[in-house]
Amino acid sequence: MRLSAPAIRARKRRRGAEPLVMVTAYDEPGARLASAAGVDIILVGDSLANVVLGHADTLHVTIEAMCHHVAAVAAASPDAHVVADLPWLSYHTGAHEAVANAGRLIRAGADSVKLEGGRVRREVVRAILDAEIPVMGHLGLTPQSVMAFGGFRVQAKTREAAEQLSLDAKVLQDEGVYAIVVEGVPSLVGTRVTEDLDIPTIGIGAGPDTDGQVLVFHDLLGLTHGRPAKFVRRYADAGSLITEAIARYAADVRAGAFPGPDEAYETPEELR
Ligand code: KIV
Repeated sequence: MRLSAPAIRARKRRRGAEPLVMVTAYDEPGARLASAAGVDIILVGDSLANVVLGHADTLHVTIEAMCHHVAAVAAASPDAHVVADLPWLSYHTGAHEAVANAGRLIRAGADSVKLEGGRVRREVVRAILDAEIPVMGHLGLTPQSVMAFGGFRVQAKTREAAEQLSLDAKVLQDEGVYAIVVEGVPSLVGTRVTEDLDIPTIGIGAGPDTDGQVLVFHDLLGLTHGRPAKFVRRYADAGSLITEAIARYAADVRAGAFPGPDEAYETPEELR
């Protein structure tokens, strides 16, 4: 049965809950496979921009593209909770537009929405929650802030920055978000923010003590090129497997070995 936002909110490890498992997906096959693997949450992330659309950052994905991919994920009818990212500029211009865009993601098939930022997004979070849409927070190395950060850099490396992150997390919790993704921070910061909160944290590059973990589908399966980030563990080399399969197909076509008799339709009597 599909996990609801309130059920996820209750999944705190210190209260004996199992760690939450979240993975991204962007289409029907990805969502179907992730669901069959038994993940708790599928994130239709704005990492769509990087790993599917080939951009260098997440700033190039629109609300229209996100809705398109949320609908593809929802078509898999996954058992997992589906949370969708509000992309850059879909919630930065005011609460009214943020609620309208969150509603578009829900109508496309999401169960909740995720947005980046802490105190600065307080009004927007409140407005979306007032529209009865569950919200997941995202703090730390928030990729939509790449220009402000001057690159993809580990965050909360000073005492002051770690305290600011804790404050942001508490404000999001007080507003009513049901969970918070904590990305790209020292493990101790991941541990402390998890201890400080009554709602679950879901870490990516935030150490082993968060209440759950999230990885990007293409990173986990070895479908990305280049050196993966430090926090990525590759569970498969699906990229090599796929290239090898396509190369065998190409070789068969060139050798006249595909299609064979079993892969062709028989000639009807009348045409002989
Ligand atoms: O878009 C995404 O994939 C994300 C994860 C990195 C948490 O936000």
